[in-house]
Amino acid sequence: RIVYVNGSYVPEEEATVSVFDRGFLFADGVYEVTAVVDGTILEFDGHVQRLERSLRELDMDMPVTRETLLEIHRELIRRNNLEEGMVYLQVTRGEADRDFAYPKAAPQTLVLFTQAKSLVDAPMAKQGLRVIAAEDLRWARRDVKTVQLVAPCMAKMLAKAEGKDDAWMVEDGYVTEGTSNNAYIITKEGSIVTRNLSNSILPGITRAAVLKLAAEKGMAIEERPFTIAEAQEAAEAFVTAATTFVCPVIEIDGVTIGNGTPGPLTSRLKELYIDEGR
Ligand code: PDD
Repeated sequence: RIVYVNGSYVPEEEATVSVFDRGFLFADGVYEVTAVVDGTILEFDGHVQRLERSLRELDMDMPVTRETLLEIHRELIRRNNLEEGMVYLQVTRGEADRDFAYPKAAPQTLVLFTQAKSLVDAPMAKQGLRVIAAEDLRWARRDVKTVQLVAPCMAKMLAKAEGKDDAWMVEDGYVTEGTSNNAYIITKEGSIVTRNLSNSILPGITRAAVLKLAAEKGMAIEERPFTIAEAQEAAEAFVTAATTFVCPVIEIDGVTIGNGTPGPLTSRLKELYIDEGR
């Protein structure tokens, strides 16, 4: 694989980042994951806008212009002959002596790499996910896409230990989101319910696209918190993320949702997103 590090395209074995990088020492950095289908990047503008916001919230600048970032994405896709998969981008505050106070002028570290993966025909998207409930132990600024991901990694491993696929994280009795996706239920009345945007969840780019499509089709949407108990009573459930699109959820904390197969509205949203959303 050819990866990008601070202005250079190099084979992955030759790419280096300092052990003093604040991303490594403090998780002092942000990231984005963008899907690639048929060699084309999906939702680039949304992801770059969120990146700018994440950086601003952490008192950092954009390392390069938007145009340059798009060029780097395209160049990496080209050099790696990537047809389907994702581009991962990370910006950290860069190398400095270890100190909680950060130097304003440290040269940032910008890293991008690609990962090939089948997205459109991913088996989980057909089958549906089994999720467990897990306490949300993340920090209070989940709207910022930082690389400090150990809490969701632990939650995901709890799910794996139970033979399940993912965890829906719960705070003060209400679902925040999945470990790396936004969470939704569809009520028996046919209303799509997903948590409202706040510091408690990541403002998903796929979430915005899917809610826009749903609204255009006249589907009812309620942006509000919901509990695991309400989710277990729902007609359908699903998650969204850049690399999973709309993915059905068929079991929540041991309770089967609907008849245990992907629901009709979920399937419709998935098709809408795949056909029109990109
Ligand atoms: N995760 N919520 C969380 C906590 C996430 O990590 C993600 C994305 C989302 C969905 O956001 P979007 O629709 O913009 O991808 C919601 C990425 C895919 C990841 O960490 O791999």
